[in-house]
Amino acid sequence: MDFFKEGTIKFYAENKQLKSSGVFYNPIRKFDRSLNVLFLSSLNRSNLNGLELFSGSGVRGIRICAETKKFSSFDFNDIKSVAIISKNLRINKDHLNGMELCVHNENSKFYVSKKKYDYVDVDPFGSPVPYTEPALGFLSRKSILAVSATDTAALLGSAQRACLRKYGSLSLKTSYSNELGIRILIKRIAELSEDKGLHAKPLLFDFDGNFIRVYFSFSASSQGRIGYAYQCSKCPSRTLKRIEKCVYCGSKMTQIGPLWLDGIFSKTTVKNMLSFLENNATNLAEDRTSLHDYLFTLLAEKNIFSYYTTSELSSFFKKPEEKISKFSDRTILSSKGFRTKLSFGELAESLWS
Ligand SMILES: C[S@@+](CC[C@H](N)C(=O)[O-])C[C@H]1O[C@@H](n2cnc3c(N)ncnc32)[C@H](O)[C@@H]1O
Ligand SMILES: [Zn+2]
Repeated sequence: MDFFKEGTIKFYAENKQLKSSGVFYNPIRKFDRSLNVLFLSSLNRSNLNGLELFSGSGVRGIRICAETKKFSSFDFNDIKSVAIISKNLRINKDHLNGMELCVHNENSKFYVSKKKYDYVDVDPFGSPVPYTEPALGFLSRKSILAVSATDTAALLGSAQRACLRKYGSLSLKTSYSNELGIRILIKRIAELSEDKGLHAKPLLFDFDGNFIRVYFSFSASSQGRIGYAYQCSKCPSRTLKRIEKCVYCGSKMTQIGPLWLDGIFSKTTVKNMLSFLENNATNLAEDRTSLHDYLFTLLAEKNIFSYYTTSELSSFFKKPEEKISKFSDRTILSSKGFRTKLSFGELAESLWS
């Protein structure tokens, strides 16, 4: 067991994944946990009760409690690590005064609670789908749900059968697969929510190539759009219109989905987070610059379907690759990606005429 510090807390954990324990510290996710802290800090609510179904060492949940000061009670759960979580809660007790904290060692698939929670966090290894269905039972229309997925081979189109099996959608390897993965994950969570009479709305996402995390709120009123996208099998052209043949080159279109077709984040949420970061003394000093850059880029991003990359255009048109700085509507999801409302034909004309 090693000793670590992250944000304002200190804690014990394994420093690498051991088969015997699995309760290891993943420093790569530090930014994501800081984003989590900022997201919750910026909510205009307090006295929340939270549940973390996969606590690991407890670093995320303890940081959430210690740094947001939004929670009056919090339940930690992990099938393997109650002893470590309890120890880590003890050594951080000065930051957790007055909060009602409980530690459970249930299998999250069968976690039972009579309570409704304001915040539920589902952060397993692999797909969150089997655990989200029971977790939705603990939510109300005012709750926030955070869901992570690490099965990016399935979501991003490398393992199509696994994606169909787990998410009920066909993904495809494309230049914009990062977005397809996010849209498929959101779609599945939205479907599961609908089964419980809740309309899910994605507020924020985090993506690092091997990991997708999405924060949801719920509403009673409006259901999001779910449907298909169509990708040309020979050229970069893609559309949300149902067509058999590519308008640009006449080749066959491949149907992708079903996908979430509405916005994949909320500009209001991003604005609130930026404003919180700028106007409050947070404990997020170490990640402040990267959080600011992330949110600033997201705020400027067009919340529309798909992006092109300079490399796919260069390889398709057999022309030197354009500098990405030439394009104003960049995306956080690819360093070479930009968004446009133009059709592929219009884009080609604007680029090369
Ligand atoms: C990805 S880690 C959680 C990381 C933690 N949320 C963080 O941010 O540091 C997944 C954890 O899930 C636990 N786990 C695996 N299967 C479980 C199950 N069925 N029910 C509850 N916990 C489980 C493992 O022991 C591991 O600690
Ligand atoms: Zn085509």
